[in-house]
Amino acid sequence: MKPFRLLTVALTALALLAPLPATASPTHGHDESLREAAPRGFRIGTAVAGGGHHETMPYPDPFTADKPYRKLLGTEFSSVSPENQMKWEYLHPERDRYDFTAADAIVRFAQRHHQVVRGHTLLWHSQNPDWLENSDFTPAQLRSILRDHVRKVVGRYRGQIQQWDVANEIFTETGALRTTENIWLRELGPGIIADVFRWAHQADPHAKLFFNDYGVEGVNAKSDAYLALIQQLRAQGVPVHGFSAQGHLSLRYGFPADLETNLNRFSALGLHTAITEVDVRMDLPESGVPTDAQLAQQADYYQRMLSACLNVRGCDSFTIWGFTDKYSWVPVFFEGEGAATVMWDDFSRKPAYHVLRSTLAAGR
Ligand code: G3I
Repeated sequence: MKPFRLLTVALTALALLAPLPATASPTHGHDESLREAAPRGFRIGTAVAGGGHHETMPYPDPFTADKPYRKLLGTEFSSVSPENQMKWEYLHPERDRYDFTAADAIVRFAQRHHQVVRGHTLLWHSQNPDWLENSDFTPAQLRSILRDHVRKVVGRYRGQIQQWDVANEIFTETGALRTTENIWLRELGPGIIADVFRWAHQADPHAKLFFNDYGVEGVNAKSDAYLALIQQLRAQGVPVHGFSAQGHLSLRYGFPADLETNLNRFSALGLHTAITEVDVRMDLPESGVPTDAQLAQQADYYQRMLSACLNVRGCDSFTIWGFTDKYSWVPVFFEGEGAATVMWDDFSRKPAYHVLRSTLAAGR
């Protein structure tokens, strides 16, 4: 080989071996976003901040008022989940009145940004309007209220929702149905679950219909209960398509190392799986600023959750419950804990952000 040719070959080999700077993209030549880094067909999502705890905070509605937030929402993610805006108390504030303003705006935003939407949620024990919870409707009335709601809401977004969290958090830690807190299960019995899935499927045959819960990352009594229920429902021909673990983790507890094993049990039934509400909270030091060791451990938890999903056939949606600490629900609910998301208040990136991106890129 001529010396010049030899030099060219050597330089090319060196360039290939040299590690890429963390922010460079091999294909785009610019700072690659999470959605650009993701494998084809894999959805990387976030909750869309609004409603719920935000209403008690001293800032305007994040989704409609925070421009830098909206920019990142559109560029970084390929899936969005309304954090509160599709819950009953927002969509159905009075018995005979629906309010789709906030939910419609999110669905329109998603379409403009070529994103899919995860609908959240249709049957839950929490965030139901007072007119519903504090009433004495007969079972027949409740059933027709629920059926009308599901038809109206799912039908309105027909063809525009990729996955619906149809039933949310219906089991307790011991694997018992939440028959006390959940008005639907309490008043109508467990048979209502199959009905809701059927109504939702009729209203939008394209949407994938999910059970969604927290504390079901690993193999335990609660995830066992879902597995048994889903097997039973599918044997009866009920249109259940997916099972999702929320993924609200804390550095106080060990990582659920059997996450992948658990998701695989559902995947083996032919179901879609997803991780839908990921965040990793930690005890904040007195300074309020996490240590480097905490941030590294947090990044490790994010990485392991994402890798588990990437490794499971049919797990093609991974959603974080907000991408900036500025709007996280965690400090509101857990005193002394926080810093649970992948970006600081000013949207600068934590190690967890970088590790998500490199893990997505490695999965291409
Ligand atoms: O119920 C009171 C109401 O009576 C009062 O008028 C109102 C105004 O102060 O507050 C109401 O409670 C708020 C609730 O949203 C209802 O809007 C809580 O303070 C507020 O903290 C709550 O937050 C939401 C929470 O769900 C409620 O469960 C969060 O914004 C939202 O991030 C969170 O999201 C849930 C998922 O939907 C399901 N999985 C767990 C996840 C985190 O909790």
